[in-house]
Amino acid sequence: MKKIVLVTGASRGIGAEVARQLSRLGFFVVLGYNKNKEKAEQVLKDCGGNGVCVQADISKYEDCEQMISEINKNHGEIYGLVCNAGVTQKKLLIDQTEKEMAEIINTNLMSAMYLTNLCLNQESEGFEKPLKHIVFVSSVDGIKGNAGEAVYSATKGGLIALSKSLKDELEPFGVAVECVELPAVLGTGMMDEYTKEELEEIKKTYKVISKETAAEYITKPFVK
Ligand SMILES: NC(=O)c1ccc[n+]([C@@H]2O[C@H](COP(=O)([O-])OP(=O)(O)OC[C@H]3O[C@@H](n4cnc5c(N)ncnc54)[C@H](OP(=O)(O)O)[C@@H]3O)[C@@H](O)[C@H]2O)c1
Repeated sequence: MKKIVLVTGASRGIGAEVARQLSRLGFFVVLGYNKNKEKAEQVLKDCGGNGVCVQADISKYEDCEQMISEINKNHGEIYGLVCNAGVTQKKLLIDQTEKEMAEIINTNLMSAMYLTNLCLNQESEGFEKPLKHIVFVSSVDGIKGNAGEAVYSATKGGLIALSKSLKDELEPFGVAVECVELPAVLGTGMMDEYTKEELEEIKKTYKVISKETAAEYITKPFVK
């Protein structure tokens, strides 16, 4: 039976590498994307076509609902959920608008709650719930904070707290919940926010890892 794993933000960056690694592990990968359909389709090719690309703006509950029901209807029940998609904005809180703050919170944090809720409520063929793995992609910013990315850091801290609560709620029922607090990962879209000089500074002050290593942390729970 095919095991379906949904990876949000799989059109580029870390999520694309997560999708490639999961497909090498034999999973049927659903590559979630928002704006970059062509990039997602290219990643699906890298996955040997063992999967499908699905568009959704995960900051909106209705889009998440539509995406999960489409996957269930066309492919089956979701076995693993990787909440990877995320956005940031390099701006002091004093200068941010309500809309800008809401976009970061809804994309990074609310979406994880929406998708977990929807995957847990999937109609299942058998007695057992189909969902067995949830992985949230957080950041060291969620532990240490980051001046200039306060809202982003708050969402990443929120994912850590969410995962701790869900571990207690779900692990007795056989659902493994993980949260990965990544250090800096160079060469992704999120890093386009930084100037060359800032990137040099990041290399001096942060632990820096590659996209491949970041993806290995995320896919570890799926390795038998
Ligand atoms: N890069 C780092 O240094 C670093 C460090 C720690 C943690 N992280 C975390 O790792 C994750 C991936 O980061 P990255 O650097 O790989 O990012 P990235 O290259 O900027 O890619 C972001 C991904 O998220 C998707 N996305 C954004 N908004 C979305 C929305 N509203 N609905 C659906 N998908 C949406 C994008 O889809 P489209 O392209 O299709 O629009 C894209 O696939 C994030 O959660 C980030 O916080 C990154």
